[in-house]
Amino acid sequence: MIHGHITAWVLAVILFVVALFLIKGGKAKGAKIVQMILRVLYLLIIATGVMMLTQVYNIDLMYILKAAVGIWVIGLFEMIISRTANNKKTNVFWIQFAIAFALVLYLGFSLPMSFMNP
Ligand code: HEM
Repeated sequence: MIHGHITAWVLAVILFVVALFLIKGGKAKGAKIVQMILRVLYLLIIATGVMMLTQVYNIDLMYILKAAVGIWVIGLFEMIISRTANNKKTNVFWIQFAIAFALVLYLGFSLPMSFMNP
């Protein structure tokens, strides 16, 4: 499950960057397609995350934070893509993204199921 989770979010990060490049390169149609695939990945990230949560005996604050920040990151993917597509300012969202992404990696890797905690 954890591998599915990691695969899904790594792919999502890659496609997020691809979508931004497509938008910047004026390829709106290509970007739309990538965005559709991204949305399927969001569902997979959430589904694998929730499945892991069901395996946890006592869900403490760290897990709740992990899930909340994970959803925050997904929201930011969407916000940044749509604002870039509409030529709106994204600075505030990139700042949030840097914070949220660092936080979600920290929380993910410090929680016990992580492969970094054998
Ligand atoms: C883009 C969003 C997300 C990213 C980048 C992310 C990243 C990660 C990372 C790096 C790990 C640790 C993997 C490992 O070390 O083996 C992890 C584990 C986990 N994630 Fe996520 N995640 C995201 C979204 C979510 C969401 C939305 C949920 C819940 C609904 C969630 C729930 C979990 C759970 C329960 C674990 C296992 C924690 C443990 O070790 O006990 N994640 N995630």
